[in-house]
Amino acid sequence: NNREIITLQAGQCGNQVGMEFWSMLCNEHGINPDGILSDHAVNNPAEDRKDVFFYQADDEHYIPRAILLDLEPRVINNILSSPYANLYNPENIFLSPDGGGAGNNWAFGFSSGERIADEVSEMIDREADGSDSLEGFMLLHSIAGGTGSGLGSWLLEYLGDRYPKKLIQTYSVFPNSEETSDTVVQPYNSMLSLKRLTQNADSVVVLDNAALNRIAADRLRIQNPTFAQTNQLVSTVMSASTTTLRYPGYMNNDLVGLLASLIPTPRCHFLTTSYTPFTTDGVDHTKSVRKTTVLDVMRRLLQPNNRMVSTNPSKKSCYISILNIIQGDVDPTDVHKSLLRIRERRLAQFIPWGPASIQVALSKKSPYVQTSHRVSGLMLANHTSIGSLFKRTCDQYDRLRKRNAFLEQYKKEAMFSDGLEEFDSSRQVVQDLIAEYEACEKADYLNFNSDAPAAAPAAMGGRRASVDPTSRL
Ligand code: GTP
Repeated sequence: NNREIITLQAGQCGNQVGMEFWSMLCNEHGINPDGILSDHAVNNPAEDRKDVFFYQADDEHYIPRAILLDLEPRVINNILSSPYANLYNPENIFLSPDGGGAGNNWAFGFSSGERIADEVSEMIDREADGSDSLEGFMLLHSIAGGTGSGLGSWLLEYLGDRYPKKLIQTYSVFPNSEETSDTVVQPYNSMLSLKRLTQNADSVVVLDNAALNRIAADRLRIQNPTFAQTNQLVSTVMSASTTTLRYPGYMNNDLVGLLASLIPTPRCHFLTTSYTPFTTDGVDHTKSVRKTTVLDVMRRLLQPNNRMVSTNPSKKSCYISILNIIQGDVDPTDVHKSLLRIRERRLAQFIPWGPASIQVALSKKSPYVQTSHRVSGLMLANHTSIGSLFKRTCDQYDRLRKRNAFLEQYKKEAMFSDGLEEFDSSRQVVQDLIAEYEACEKADYLNFNSDAPAAAPAAMGGRRASVDPTSRL
């Protein structure tokens, strides 16, 4: 029972994040950039499950279960001229023959999906058939441009349709809302993507570039980080959140188990992450001033400035759930004591309608990667303040839409040629989502009845029905 996961990476951001992720996974599993197991790993076998993310070719190459999609060639060409060029299955790379990209137009990215559906579904089906017991899909993308957002949205609809029983998780990079936006139409693209992230994904890990840049500056002393540097932060989080799947022996050995406790109700599935301590190039900038204990790690994970997404919490904001994945040299009694201390100090405010507890998973680490710190931790959290991010997206969207600005390029695509209902419907879905997160902050949330269709795909929906939050009160 392997519980394999297929990764789909779309657009510039998706493929650049993917590049860092695969290089990190190779490192952790002792796989060389060409896909061959290193001598060191052969002589010192780890008790790991490489097959969740890789399969072996006839000649013992480890090949990522990854599909690389882009509508312009630059990023994928970079990958193909890197030391990792031969890691990927060339049949799993889709590059649009036109090569012009989606021009920051969600509608073009989405309709491209329809045009290339045959080729892409062939790749996905082949990968799915090649796994023993597929658990689900992971989509890596940004939601501000055209390809990751539009083609990514098409993929989410397609997967929900074609693989309704499989889990769909995304790592979605939101635009940097603190800067004057890198493209004027990003609120449109974000809104149209958010509808699919709400309706067609089981779980969305939300990251944004403002927060990633701030963490690079605060924690790594890098003032103007490159994408490669911020993507290392993202891939560290991706790697840490999949350690329990890749290193068996403890709990949470599948993704559904991991997510079910975090997502008690289907629509509120947008997760934030924190990680500590971050290191660059093996340099731990915190080492000289700190000794890491479990309590230190858990406290730091709760600090809002370690969150990899920019939200504006209100007085009422609270956690729906928290899962800490702690790695390293840890005594379970320390975990217990730390949890008590956090509770005494009221360091985490929880929803009034569910269990107010931090769940902890202790996880093994790769034996091949040396770290200077004793303990590290990842927090995956479901927090109602994520609604403030969606509100900000709505405000930016409304300002643009009121002026009917920049709609021409959208109207060129069939989906928008007769009207702009798709915009209005997306805006409504996001409004309902904001309302639901607000309702979560109240004791009577379980009576909340949104008019929005409960479109949670069956993958988690079915299983989640058995995690009826009322039964946990
Ligand atoms: P088109 O360029 O329109 O074909 O779409 P695309 O999906 O390739 O665009 P892209 O991924 O560049 O989307 C733009 C958004 O992604 C902006 O918010 C960028 O700041 C962000 N972005 C682009 N590349 C990266 C990256 O490597 N890492 C991170 N964190 N953000 C990125």
